[in-house]
Amino acid sequence: MKVTIVGAGNVGATCADVISYRGIASEVVLLDIKEGFAEGKALDIMQCATNTGFNTKVSGVTNDYSKTANSHVVVVTSGIPRKPGMTREELIGINAGIVKSVVENVLKYSPEAIILMVSNPMDTMSYLALKSLGIPKNRLIGMGGALDSSRFRTYLSLALDRPVNDISAMVIGGHGDTTMIPLTRLASYNGIPVTQFLSEEVLEKVAADTMVGGATLTGLLGTSAWYAPGASVAYIVDSILNDQKKMIACSVYLEGEYGQNDICVGVPCIIGKNGVEEILEIDLNEKEKALFAKSADAVRVMNEALKT
Ligand code: NAI
Repeated sequence: MKVTIVGAGNVGATCADVISYRGIASEVVLLDIKEGFAEGKALDIMQCATNTGFNTKVSGVTNDYSKTANSHVVVVTSGIPRKPGMTREELIGINAGIVKSVVENVLKYSPEAIILMVSNPMDTMSYLALKSLGIPKNRLIGMGGALDSSRFRTYLSLALDRPVNDISAMVIGGHGDTTMIPLTRLASYNGIPVTQFLSEEVLEKVAADTMVGGATLTGLLGTSAWYAPGASVAYIVDSILNDQKKMIACSVYLEGEYGQNDICVGVPCIIGKNGVEEILEIDLNEKEKALFAKSADAVRVMNEALKT
């Protein structure tokens, strides 16, 4: 199975690395506009093969989409970060131009590919890609909830002082500091609600830390994170290529689910060989429903910037 990753920067290269050493795909192609950059990253990753024991073929290309032909999954990480003085609308405008041309090129050579959107603002870029490509909605998946849920589980694990893989928890809604919704009420430790172990005050702090999880890392690193984002993308790719049907919160196109229409926003999905196999409509309480509606409204405001 072949995976193309557009953008060989921090997230794209990390994702290629994880996919390779975990043997998730037999072939990975990295593509970037920076001359020689993807080639260099690919060679570096390939040279890990003997010491980590993988057989995935990793190659890199500069802008040559013909080398991406017949990819099963295409991950889009190309884009620029917001620069000082740049408005959110300006950033959306620039990244929208990049994402639109990238996905058009990708589909020329891999018309059946499942697109995994990572570039920010991710919910809006997912919506743009879906609308401009006209591909079936099951083939467009935005990565945000997988990362945010992973951060939520990490903070819960630290608060409980228990292993993170014994903790189950999910974040839905928009992929932004103010729009994501950590579902504290449904979080559990080996099936037992975490509310039995942690006070309301601690849980509020865990949720707040989760929501600023990305910003905290940007503050510490001076740039946005890549290990957890790359691993989160690889986790979704694994579920697609190996038809694992994992339940993962992803940004997908809604047509009536959760009371929303014509928007891509994070909800629990079953991810398998067809991409989005199913959208799960879980029972939210009134407070969670209100938060979800507010979150969707905020994403819609961002989507409006695509028209300017
Ligand atoms: P980066 O700057 O390290 O890498 C981006 C790469 O894209 C660069 O190598 C650049 O040359 C390339 N690129 C730009 N325009 C291109 C084009 N037209 N064609 C091919 N390649 C092109 O950035 P990083 O840290 O890897 O982040 C990538 C994107 O992912 C950003 O938009 C970032 O905000 C987003 N992101 C999203 C996350 C999520 O949860 N959805 C998490 C982390 C980052």
